[in-house]
Amino acid sequence: MSGRLITVEGIEGVGKTTNINWICECLAEQGIPFIQSREPGGTALAEEIRQLLLTPRDEKMSDLTELLLVFAARAQHLHQLIEPALLRGEWVVCDRFTDATYAYQGGGRGLDMSLIAALEDLVQDKLRPDLTLILDIEPAVGLARAHQRGAPDRFEQEAISFFTRVRQTYLERAQAAPDRYLIVDAGKPLVDVQAQIRAGLHQFCQRSVSRAQATAEPHHGL
Ligand code: TMP
Repeated sequence: MSGRLITVEGIEGVGKTTNINWICECLAEQGIPFIQSREPGGTALAEEIRQLLLTPRDEKMSDLTELLLVFAARAQHLHQLIEPALLRGEWVVCDRFTDATYAYQGGGRGLDMSLIAALEDLVQDKLRPDLTLILDIEPAVGLARAHQRGAPDRFEQEAISFFTRVRQTYLERAQAAPDRYLIVDAGKPLVDVQAQIRAGLHQFCQRSVSRAQATAEPHHGL
């Protein structure tokens, strides 16, 4: 596959939408063909699963049900949208991916990480993001912003301690594999956040170019 998968992660209220738009602007400036998507969701069926996951209801969803629904949506998204785009040579900018599963279902809910890893292998085979941006912010700041947006969804109703564990898991994963992750301090003013992202993308593109030259794949600069 010659496209690249860029994923963007972080707790609620961290500013993913604004920063994803910025990433897309940077790619468009360079003439890089890309599509933008999100998880859970990205196809009509996966968006229906998203509704199941996000809508608060009286019946408590078991943690295992939640995990399986997240991966069911991902299987559909990969099959229907992500893999075909990568095969066409397009880049995919995705708002959340499997790091969110490690962070929310693993860190937040306390599910066994090895169970998540087994499902990751089953659903994705060898596919992993090429670059993951972790937008990092204090949970209290992010949640205050998220709660201004309207009625909280099923995840936003969780206590702050849940989001502290989610954030910690993101940071641990990033520290364990610094080549794939870029931690962005999203508490800074927007221009600084955008500068961090542009620099990270630039570095990533340079690495991509060297890799493409080694394998004779198409490549882009930034
Ligand atoms: P958002 O994309 O609008 O922030 O909302 C999606 C919610 O779904 C968010 O609270 C995180 C949660 N989620 C998981 O719990 N696990 C996952 O694997 C993904 C992709 C999202």
